[in-house]
Amino acid sequence: MIDIHTHILPGLDDGSTNIKESIDILKELISQGVEEIIATPHIISGVYDNNKKIIEDKIKELNSEIITHNLPIKIHKGAELYCEPNLIEKTKREELNLAGSKYILIESDMQRFPDNFEDILYQFQIAGYTPILAHAERFIPFMNDFNYLLDIINRGILLQMNCSSLFGDYGDNVKKLSHKLLQNGCVHFIASDVHGLNKSPIMLKEAYQFLSENFNENLAKLLMDENPKRLIQNEEIENMIEDYYVEEKTRQTLKEKIKNIFRI
Ligand SMILES: [Fe+2]
Repeated sequence: MIDIHTHILPGLDDGSTNIKESIDILKELISQGVEEIIATPHIISGVYDNNKKIIEDKIKELNSEIITHNLPIKIHKGAELYCEPNLIEKTKREELNLAGSKYILIESDMQRFPDNFEDILYQFQIAGYTPILAHAERFIPFMNDFNYLLDIINRGILLQMNCSSLFGDYGDNVKKLSHKLLQNGCVHFIASDVHGLNKSPIMLKEAYQFLSENFNENLAKLLMDENPKRLIQNEEIENMIEDYYVEEKTRQTLKEKIKNIFRI
């Protein structure tokens, strides 16, 4: 697996607090089957003013610890961008894209998107970037208006889901939306968004099993391994997801048929 959303770099944000914690998180990720990760510290003006040099220096520091501990994991540079003014200029200047690709990870206030949200996303697209909306299932505006979410996807925006959302870690409404997103073929990536071992649990392995059992294993592979791989290689993330839902849809149809037979 490849985890595209992690707060693994120590001391840069509300994620890992020190190098030991980072190593412990990496060990847990490895035990769940992760081979590569993208380090995505928050970038929020006045709160987390991380830049290219700060991120690169921390990755260097973590990499030397990885060698010392002989851990089989690779770290790519990235960032989680909070939607705010002048974000495009900052992204270009500080190279805040994911793993050197055209993809960027973007977040916003969970309660409401900024008024010009679609316009900001569009400006990124014009500038050659492909935005990925971080933990899309946690946004209140999408809970209230699913068509708005579909509209965002139709604009070419990709969606990342947190693995633990599927199991109710952020509450029932988030859990409900995360299942609905999967059922409607709206998810492009599943990642951990890990902040530490004592915070939200890392449930990548459970999410992989959940998808394999409730949809099929190809979908688990697509969202947790193949699409992240394409991202790192700067390849297109095709909207092929619907193919993976055929089996589930067929199964539901059969269930309905059986129900009807019993009613008769
Ligand atoms: Fe995050």
